[in-house]
Amino acid sequence: GKGEYDHFMLKEINEQPTSLAQAIEGRIDPVNGRIALSDFEPGTFDDVDSVQFVACGTSYHAALYGSLALNQAGVHSTALLANEYSVSAPPVDENTLVIAVTQSGETADTLSALKQAAAEGARTLTVTNVVGSTAARAADDTLFIRAGPEIGVAATKTFSSQAVMLTLLGQRIADDVQGEPPADLETLLPELESMPSTIDQLLEYSNAASIAEQYSESRSYFFIGRGLGFPVALEGALKFKEITYEHAEGFASGELKHGPLALVTPETPVFAIFTGQEDEKTLKNAEEAQTRGAPVVAVCPDGHPAVEVADEHLTIPDTDSDLAGLVANVQLQLVSYYAADLLGRPIDKPRNLAKSVTVE
Ligand code: M6R
Repeated sequence: GKGEYDHFMLKEINEQPTSLAQAIEGRIDPVNGRIALSDFEPGTFDDVDSVQFVACGTSYHAALYGSLALNQAGVHSTALLANEYSVSAPPVDENTLVIAVTQSGETADTLSALKQAAAEGARTLTVTNVVGSTAARAADDTLFIRAGPEIGVAATKTFSSQAVMLTLLGQRIADDVQGEPPADLETLLPELESMPSTIDQLLEYSNAASIAEQYSESRSYFFIGRGLGFPVALEGALKFKEITYEHAEGFASGELKHGPLALVTPETPVFAIFTGQEDEKTLKNAEEAQTRGAPVVAVCPDGHPAVEVADEHLTIPDTDSDLAGLVANVQLQLVSYYAADLLGRPIDKPRNLAKSVTVE
């Protein structure tokens, strides 16, 4: 049941310290400073020369996150919408690893991309929450995110667990492909281990409810981020539109000036996500919106230069830039939740949507 919470979504947002602890349990080897995935011993990915992720919706955002992190670790990778795969898949061969990311393991679009990749000779791997799901059975290998059941149609805890597991898996793949652990692994590991407590603290002090209230009469909501903040901007907007029924869009920070800026007015708050990757550029992009009257909400740690400039601040703990976006995303989940609650929306079952989409 929902226990003390009004909605499953809020319960599941608050479960993230636990679901993340379950996801990483036994999968980090602090003594040797390595990722330890029992099914993927060192050497498993020696032959991989590129990685393609296929997924839809929120899982696509987690996949994009994983793909960008893998590129940053020096491994050639792309994230593709599963429903576009049949018409525009890049070529694959036996050295291509195709990773299907699907919470339910039953999404028809993702299953069909996975089957196509396998039929064309790629090696396949499924990252999912559901043991025994069709996608788990259809791939050569599986990695379970162990988030526990998610009832709310809006994916929350499964997004963070997918992204964290893809970060772990990406480090493991990069280690094999490059023959040595990625350079930043040493600093990343302790931050990964403390993710559950980092998010626990954030849930305690979040001011997301008051930000949601302050901007609940707006016309449109924009989310911008760069690097690993970009998939988080997309996810922030998807969650917002899905449960509030208000218009929201996510952009790469640098894209704002290439068109979307025409939409910016005092009635379009801009949530700017700072992950420590070229933050000064994102801040400039946010200021361009602010100059046109848009209120800017900075999602960043206390003491960050954006705090001075922004109209409002959603604070996040200082963490590794590989993880900052995921912590920021929890604040955005809460903003969406409280905005939808104020508007009286049926949060756990938004109109027209289903938890698992089994048609193409
Ligand atoms: O079960 P899957 O992860 O494959 O589902 C994919 C999407 O339908 C799903 O992530 C959807 O976008 C979310 N419910 C949105 O919150």
